[in-house]
Amino acid sequence: MSVDEQALAGGFDPNRLDAAFYDNPYPVYAALRSFDPVHRCPDGTYFLSRYADLDRIYRDRTAFSSDKKQAFAPKYGVDSPLYEHHTTSLVFNDAPYHTRVRRPIVGALTPHVLKAMEPDVVALVDTLLDRMEAQSDVDLIADYAAAVPVEVIGNLLRVPREDRGPLRGWSLAILGALEPSLTAAQLEAGNRAVTEFCAYLRELIAQRRRHPGGDDDLLTRLLGDDQLTETELAQNCVFLLNAGHETTTNLIGNGLHLLLTHADSLRQLREEPQLITTAVEECLRFESSNQLGNRLVVQRSVVREVVLEPGTYLTLCIGAANRDSDEFNDPDRFDIARQPNRHLAFAAGAHACAGMAVARLEGRVAIARAVQRFPSLQLSGEPARGRRARFRGFTSLPARVG
Ligand code: HEM
Repeated sequence: MSVDEQALAGGFDPNRLDAAFYDNPYPVYAALRSFDPVHRCPDGTYFLSRYADLDRIYRDRTAFSSDKKQAFAPKYGVDSPLYEHHTTSLVFNDAPYHTRVRRPIVGALTPHVLKAMEPDVVALVDTLLDRMEAQSDVDLIADYAAAVPVEVIGNLLRVPREDRGPLRGWSLAILGALEPSLTAAQLEAGNRAVTEFCAYLRELIAQRRRHPGGDDDLLTRLLGDDQLTETELAQNCVFLLNAGHETTTNLIGNGLHLLLTHADSLRQLREEPQLITTAVEECLRFESSNQLGNRLVVQRSVVREVVLEPGTYLTLCIGAANRDSDEFNDPDRFDIARQPNRHLAFAAGAHACAGMAVARLEGRVAIARAVQRFPSLQLSGEPARGRRARFRGFTSLPARVG
């Protein structure tokens, strides 16, 4: 490590990121882990990058809160649709409200439900692969990675197929508004998306009240909790649809890109297809689709001798923690057989991703079947990255299937 890296860590500002960072944030993360693992940012928040610190903070909800009302008020304005949405989502709340919303969601995603979903995911993926075969030159994001999650999550909430067109655009606009710094256009698009999405869901909820689904219908389960208001219901459905979209698109897109740029790993996976389970975990670790999390300090805490007073905001860098050599052997090596692999891509503790089994299922099916189906699958043009610090993935991944 050099003086340059020390300066890189000391001067890091998550509100002023450059193109080089979006292309490859890992050298910056390495410098932060080494020189300034509890880094004070110019705006007074802290940016944490060590695995042990993130693991501890994610598991301690007494000292660290998920409530974002105070942070989002100045960011969005308290009367805005984005403020109402993000402060009503379970992910940005503490118990008891968080527990009440989480319970029916977890209850609907049992191993039994997951097993029953698999044939539909396989059929969907195979239809997409058929279409790609006919085209030859494809975009692995638009034609494949983005098309899977929207259908899977739409099925979980039983959103009629003909209504699914706008879901992805709404989702991208709402999650885009979580970036550390925002343009007026991003803010406007996010607010409009919340308004349109909620109006749609209010109608869907009214219909579902009239015609309830079965036990495996997430929306019917949420409706069963009569303590949730209409707004809480709609906003948490918006969250569910969003939570399952871009993150999983990026798992599939990042995973395919990693394999197509690591020929030995791709060969290994084709020779030993059972490695798909550990391969998906390694894709989640190596290029985590959700790179940043946040917590608010509510009890005075000390992390690596840095005193964190109540009211301090923390950014938890999952992408950096997942490359920490204290936890992972040779962390910058992509190893599809890596075990153990206790990555934090789904966070940990009370708020750990409630949809991780769904995401893993989609990742396994989509990645395994694409590489098996097309033995000469290869990248055919310049991949385009989404310029986002929080959600890491590609907007376009040109490829040739045969
Ligand atoms: C690769 C794909 C995914 C990744 C990387 C991911 C990552 C995460 C992370 C890091 C959190 C914790 C946020 C925090 O507390 O700060 C989270 C929460 C959550 N995720 Fe996921 N997620 C993925 C897919 C999904 C899917 C497919 C669903 C739904 C079917 C889903 C539903 C949720 C829900 C409901 C929460 C909130 C849990 C709570 O606050 O208790 N996620 N996810």
